[in-house]
Amino acid sequence: MSQLIVALDFPSQRDALALVDELGDPAGYYKVGLELYTSEGPGIVRALKGRGKKVFLDLKLLDIPNTVHRAVRAAAELGADLVTVHAQGGTGMLQAAVDAAGRDIRVVAVTLLTSLTAVEVEEVWNRSLDSMLDEVLRLATLSVEAGADGVVASPLEARALRRALGPDPMVVTPGIRLPGADRHDQARVAAPDEAVRAGASHLVVGRAVTAARSPSEALRSIRASMDTAMKVDR
Ligand code: C5P
Repeated sequence: MSQLIVALDFPSQRDALALVDELGDPAGYYKVGLELYTSEGPGIVRALKGRGKKVFLDLKLLDIPNTVHRAVRAAAELGADLVTVHAQGGTGMLQAAVDAAGRDIRVVAVTLLTSLTAVEVEEVWNRSLDSMLDEVLRLATLSVEAGADGVVASPLEARALRRALGPDPMVVTPGIRLPGADRHDQARVAAPDEAVRAGASHLVVGRAVTAARSPSEALRSIRASMDTAMKVDR
C-alpha cells in the first residue's frame, strides 16, 4: 500500500502548521526540508509529532560517517520517522547512517538529484555517462546493499528501481502531478496512479497540494488517483 507524504516547503512554522491544521486527519505524513528546518529548527518536528503526524526529515545528509551517524541519531531522538542521506557519501557513510538509525528511524538515499543533467554529472565525475538511469540504479543498489531502507527517485525511474531492488525497499517519489496540472519546476513528473503502478511506496506531494486553491480537495483527488491504482493492481 503506497503512502502519501505532503511536503511542507514553507519558510515558517506558522505557515506550515496552518496547512497541517487545515488538512487535518486525512494527512498523516509530512516532509520537512532544508528551508523549514533551517528557519525553525527541531521545533517543527516536535510540533508535527505533537499533532500525531509522521515526519520525513529531508536533510539529504552528506558528510563523514561519524558526523552522519550523530545526525541520524539526533533525528531519531527527535522523533522523525524517515531521514534522507546522499548515496554519494559512499558505503561507509551509508552504513554509519543505518547503524545510527537502528529501529527508530528509516534511512533513504538520494541517488542523483532530479535537478542534475547528464552534462553536470559528467563534469563532476570527469567521465562520460552512458545513461543517467544506469547511474541511479547503481547508486540505489549500492545504498540498499549498505543497509538503506530505500531510495528517493523520480517517478519515471520507479519501475526500473522496483525491478532492480525487489519488493521490499522503499521507493520514495517526488514529482507528482495530477494530469493537466501545473508542473512548476519539475521536469519529470507522473500522475499519482502512475507512480503507484510503477512501484512507488511513498509519494511526496508538495505544491500540487500546498499551492492548490483548496488543499483538502487536492489531497482528496490525489488519494483517489492513488486508490484506483491500488485497487486495480494490488
Ligand atoms: O514539486 P513539489 O512541490 O511537489 O515538490 C515536492 C518535493 O519534491 C520538494 O520538497 C523537493 O524535495 C522535491 N523536488 C524535486 N525536484 C524538483 C523540485 C522539487 O525533487 N525539481
